[in-house]
Amino acid sequence: TPDIRPLIAGNWKMNGTRAELDQIKAMAEGVKTPLSEKVETLLCPPATLLYVATALCDDSPLLIGAQDCHQKVSGAHTGDISAQMIADCFGTHVIVGHSERRGDHAETDHLVRAKAEAAHEAELTAIVCIGETLAERDAYQTLDVLKRQIFNSLPEGATAENTVIAYEPVWAIGTGLTPTNSDIEVAHAFMRAELVARLGGEGAAMRILYGGSVKPGNAGEIMAIENVDGVLVGGASLKADDFLAIYAAC
Ligand code: G3P
Repeated sequence: TPDIRPLIAGNWKMNGTRAELDQIKAMAEGVKTPLSEKVETLLCPPATLLYVATALCDDSPLLIGAQDCHQKVSGAHTGDISAQMIADCFGTHVIVGHSERRGDHAETDHLVRAKAEAAHEAELTAIVCIGETLAERDAYQTLDVLKRQIFNSLPEGATAENTVIAYEPVWAIGTGLTPTNSDIEVAHAFMRAELVARLGGEGAAMRILYGGSVKPGNAGEIMAIENVDGVLVGGASLKADDFLAIYAAC
């Protein structure tokens, strides 16, 4: 989409130890090209690497974010991390409502919204993930699901600055399968219309990423689809070479 600065984001999920810090170092170096003025880059490693990762990216345009946060600031929530803790590690973004969180931890649309609002409270950009399952797609419910998830997960006070939408069809994640370009186009046009109806100009300027089996080989053509303002990459973000190839494909 013209006028919107695309975002290339990597999600390492539950992968990555100190041994992979070299990859982050290579990514931080690799994105130091003139393209970085036009394209924003972000990596979301596991929380254990967050603080070290931000230090490695100190003099790089590569931003660092987290993969989830709790909806509260602090307290008796063993194993959780808050948006404030992410900000304290110099993270700038947090993914909320990834389908793996919705699935593994029974996260609801309303909880996802609360997490996104907590992210904003900590001055983080929330990347709100939505997307249909295979059963929903087979039942022709894709657009209904997207409408419901946008309606219920979009945080109060969402702006183009503080919120990014990531469309990840659940059946396309980690499977090597992707929707056709025209299916992506239809879904993104629909989400754009919903966001504009909800938020007016902020919705028109909000970034809508596509995620699900994005690789160096298909990133360029996916990025060229109208209303696709970037990609959220899982598997192909683990290696600096692949991540940088996707960046270059923009
Ligand atoms: O958040 C990114 C993700 O769910 C997509 O994963 O491995 O299909 O690129 P992958």
